[in-house]
Amino acid sequence: MARHFMNTKIKPNWAGVGLLSQFVNLLIQTKPIYSLMKQQARQVMIKTAEKNGISWRKNCEILEQSDVKQRLMEIANPDITYPDYYQVPFHAYSEGNLCWQAAFEAASATYSIGLRVWPQENLTWEAAQNRLRSSFHQLLGQYISSKVQDILDIGCSVGISTLALHRFYQQQQEDPVRTVGLDLSPYMLAVAKTLDVDGEISEWLHAQAENTGLPSNAFDLITLQFVIHELPNAPTREIFIEIWRLLRPGGYIALVDNNPKSPVIQNLPPVLFTLMKSTEPWSDEYYMFDLEKALQEVGFSEPVTIASDPRHRTIISRKL
Ligand SMILES: C[S@@+](CC[C@H](N)C(=O)[O-])C[C@H]1O[C@@H](n2cnc3c(N)ncnc32)[C@H](O)[C@@H]1O
Repeated sequence: MARHFMNTKIKPNWAGVGLLSQFVNLLIQTKPIYSLMKQQARQVMIKTAEKNGISWRKNCEILEQSDVKQRLMEIANPDITYPDYYQVPFHAYSEGNLCWQAAFEAASATYSIGLRVWPQENLTWEAAQNRLRSSFHQLLGQYISSKVQDILDIGCSVGISTLALHRFYQQQQEDPVRTVGLDLSPYMLAVAKTLDVDGEISEWLHAQAENTGLPSNAFDLITLQFVIHELPNAPTREIFIEIWRLLRPGGYIALVDNNPKSPVIQNLPPVLFTLMKSTEPWSDEYYMFDLEKALQEVGFSEPVTIASDPRHRTIISRKL
């Protein structure tokens, strides 16, 4: 169930321009420390995942042996120019999202993130992932009153969010739901297409979210699931403008991402928040950004913001 936190602090002290934040940033900018942190973050993540039944290395091997690499040419859009903010090291990968290693590990990393949300409850990773997705879908069901037929999942990565969202809407109706997954990494999309074994998703589209090339007024619902914390503020604004163009009048934008007001996020242990900041370079901008205001500046209705789980918030708004 969604919960409203009674919390007056609007962001963690480790993000932004305060002293603690500056100290952490200095640590991260110190190259030998940064590279040690990256290594450690990676090792801890893999170890914890495997201890919890996520077959991290096995999942990579299976993909390595599949025909995924042949899909890259089919999917990659040769006209794409990658923006600078996207070509920086990310999640401990020096090539960010633009490499096979990031794409092969993305599903396991996504399952691990689910486990972190309810650490006290001893959930299996499958149950945690279902709960993470359902907490978002439940809110969509609650706040979206019109029919949802055409969906765009922006920043779909390897398609876990896209498939779950598609199935949520498809199981409610007989008419076919048309869902498109869009991402800037052709490696992620090649894996997404491989994992979409029954071809449930209409298109896995390689495009930049700021300038998708898709037709105007074509979607009822556009989601950004765990994407914005990976972006600087300027492209986030541009993506909101593009989403406005793509939505039909009355259509909805829904995003779910880290909740700056979450007590769990605000009270992360120093090692964890330093690691987080060291592997996600746009964190500071994200935690300082007023997303609701930015949506309204583009013309969206006054957004509804709900703490959809202990770490994340869901924001829903409408193109009037
Ligand atoms: C954390 S992943 C999203 C995970 C996925 N939506 C889920 O919920 O499991 C963020 C994704 O956003 C994509 N991305 C980042 N900037 C983008 C942009 N400007 N246009 C399109 N995709 C972008 C990245 O390539 C990455 O795959």
